[in-house]
Amino acid sequence: MGKLDGKVAVVTGGARAMGAATARLFVAEGAWVLIADVLDDAGRALAQALGDAASFQHLDVSEEAGWARVAADCVDRFGGVDVLVNNAGILKFGALVDTSLADLQRVLAVNVGGCFLGMKTMAPIMMAKGRGAIVNISSIDGMKGANSIGAYAASKWAVRGLTKVAALEFGHRGVRVNSVHPGGIDTPMGNPRGMPAAEMNALHYKGVPLQRMGESMEVARASLFLASDDASYINGAELTVDGGWTAGHYYPGYPGAPV
Ligand SMILES: NC(=O)c1ccc[n+]([C@@H]2O[C@H](COP(=O)([O-])OP(=O)(O)OC[C@H]3O[C@@H](n4cnc5c(N)ncnc54)[C@H](O)[C@@H]3O)[C@@H](O)[C@H]2O)c1
Repeated sequence: MGKLDGKVAVVTGGARAMGAATARLFVAEGAWVLIADVLDDAGRALAQALGDAASFQHLDVSEEAGWARVAADCVDRFGGVDVLVNNAGILKFGALVDTSLADLQRVLAVNVGGCFLGMKTMAPIMMAKGRGAIVNISSIDGMKGANSIGAYAASKWAVRGLTKVAALEFGHRGVRVNSVHPGGIDTPMGNPRGMPAAEMNALHYKGVPLQRMGESMEVARASLFLASDDASYINGAELTVDGGWTAGHYYPGYPGAPV
C-alpha cells in the first residue's frame, strides 16, 4: 500500500531536480501527479516516463491565469486535488547593494507569488472537500541570513511566514500546511557548476554536522511525510532537511567539533 494511494498531487517546478524526485516518489507511493513547470521538454519527458500516473502542464507559477488552468485540469479530471507541493523557485546571487529592484521583484514574484497563488487557487478546492495537504518548499535561508542572497532569503522567509498564516486559515477546514527547509542539495540550484559531490562536500560542507550535501530524494521524502496521513496532526510546522546545518555552530578545537 502506498502512502498517497488515490491522491491527486500538483508539484510545481516538477520537471527536474527536487521537484522531479518528489513527482517520482509520489507516483511510486500511489498518487496521480500533475507536474507543473516552465521547462516543457523536461517536464513532458518525465511525465511520459511516469506513465498514466503523471501528466505535464506548462505553468509559470507567478502567473495567476496559469494556476486557473491547473485547477481546472485537476477538477475536470479528478474532481479535485489532495496535495500541493509549492517547490518551484529561483535564486539570484548578488550583494544587497548590487541587487537590482527588478531582480528582487522577479525572485519575489516566483518564490513568494508562486507559493501564494498556488495556495490561493488550490486551497479552496481542498477546503470544499474538507481535506488536503500543502507543502511549501522554503529553505534554511528562510531561517537565517547569508551573504549574497538577499532577494532569495527575503523570499524564503516570506514563504515560511505565509505557511503559518495558511496553516491558521486552512487548518480548521481540514487542510494542513507545512514548510520544508532544505540545506544545500545537489541540484542545478545548489550545485550550479555540477561539481563532483566529494569536491563540493570537502569545499563547502565541513561545517555541516553530516559533512555533505543532501540529495533531492532526501527532501522528497520529507515532503512525502508531510503530504501523507502520517502527518495527520502536523500543521504549521517547519521541517529542516539540512544535515544539521541550522542546529548550531562548532567551536573549533573544542571537544565534539570535527577534526
Ligand atoms: N538546491 C538547494 O540547495 C536548495 C536549498 C534550499 C531550498 N531549495 C528550494 O528547493 C526548490 C527546488 O529547488 P532545486 O534545487 O530543485 O532547483 P532547480 O533550479 O534545479 O529546480 C527548480 C525548478 O523550478 C522550476 N521553475 C523555476 N521558475 C519557475 C516558474 N516561474 N514557474 C514554474 N516553475 C519554475 C525550474 O524550471 C526547475 O524545474 C526551490 O524552491 C529552491 O529554492 C533548494
